[in-house]
Amino acid sequence: MLHIKYRPQSFSDMIGNKETVEGVKSLISSKERPHTYLLHGPSGCGKTSLSRIMSREFGCHQNEIVEINISNNRGIDTARDIIDKTKLRPLYGPCRVYILDEVHKSTNEFQNALLKVLEEPPEHIYFILCTTEPDKLIKTVRNRCSTFSISPLSDKSIVRALEEVCKKESLTVDSELLKTIAKESLGSMRSALVMLDQIKDLKGDISEIIASVGIVTEENKTVIELCRRLATPKVKWKSIAIVLKNLEEDPEKVRRAVLGYFSNILLNEDNPYVASVIECFEEPFYNSGKAGLIKACYMAIKF
Ligand SMILES: Nc1ncnc2c1ncn2[C@@H]1O[C@H](COP(=O)(O)OP(=O)(O)OP(=O)(O)O)[C@@H](O)[C@H]1O
Ligand SMILES: [Mg+2]
Repeated sequence: MLHIKYRPQSFSDMIGNKETVEGVKSLISSKERPHTYLLHGPSGCGKTSLSRIMSREFGCHQNEIVEINISNNRGIDTARDIIDKTKLRPLYGPCRVYILDEVHKSTNEFQNALLKVLEEPPEHIYFILCTTEPDKLIKTVRNRCSTFSISPLSDKSIVRALEEVCKKESLTVDSELLKTIAKESLGSMRSALVMLDQIKDLKGDISEIIASVGIVTEENKTVIELCRRLATPKVKWKSIAIVLKNLEEDPEKVRRAVLGYFSNILLNEDNPYVASVIECFEEPFYNSGKAGLIKACYMAIKF
């Protein structure tokens, strides 16, 4: 998966957020560097990546980087467990880093319990708290952290990064398509790479490719709406018919977009209904035109 393969490994790999990266770099290279950090910003813009890079800069051994997803471990027991373990010296290397992901999902008890250790962690312990919603943390936790904000990436830097990935992967992807992906990903590099992964092997008309991954542009709004309704369990024919009435695109084009959309779903889940929709849209509509499209939709939802 591209978003895993292209996780930044060093400060210089981080796209965008130059000021934050420089700030982090200079703070952690200072002699009296803090042991407690808070990174906040939207999903997919580099919080976990930056945390791991920081951990390595601290000299932390891979085996001593402890990542805890707080949304699954929200309570006081997790806090107590962390506090107990901070007393143990690392087995490998000089320090241990706790990366607490989605830390805003923790309970108030959790946050209060951690206050003391966040304020004065043992010499061999670092904490990096990551969150998309810093306002949900109690103030006393926030006050104890050196805080950095990570911003969504600009469309331009996402396009540039995607071009770079395409080059490394020997992919030829239309530049208009890269721009659309960047726009759709709303600043998240992860979303952009996931989308690139989905479309990278598709060939053909750009608007069809875009529709096949469910990206809604002004041009393919109705087609996507049709796909979504077809994918809704037990959908009523009336709801499909309304969209079909408004559909002006070439039926053959719609057919291919539907195929792309549903094969994408099937690649991600075992779903006999989705397979049956694909079957209904297998035959081209060259001779039957819109009637063929209407019939295929009808057959699909009667499965
Ligand atoms: N600033 C960035 N520079 C380069 N790649 C990035 C950047 N941000 C995100 N990515 C890409 O997106 C992937 C996910 O990023 P990361 O896990 O760091 O995001 P996150 O901010 O922790 O998201 P979440 O809030 O969902 O946990 C990375 O593996 C990498 O491929
Ligand atoms: Mg993360």
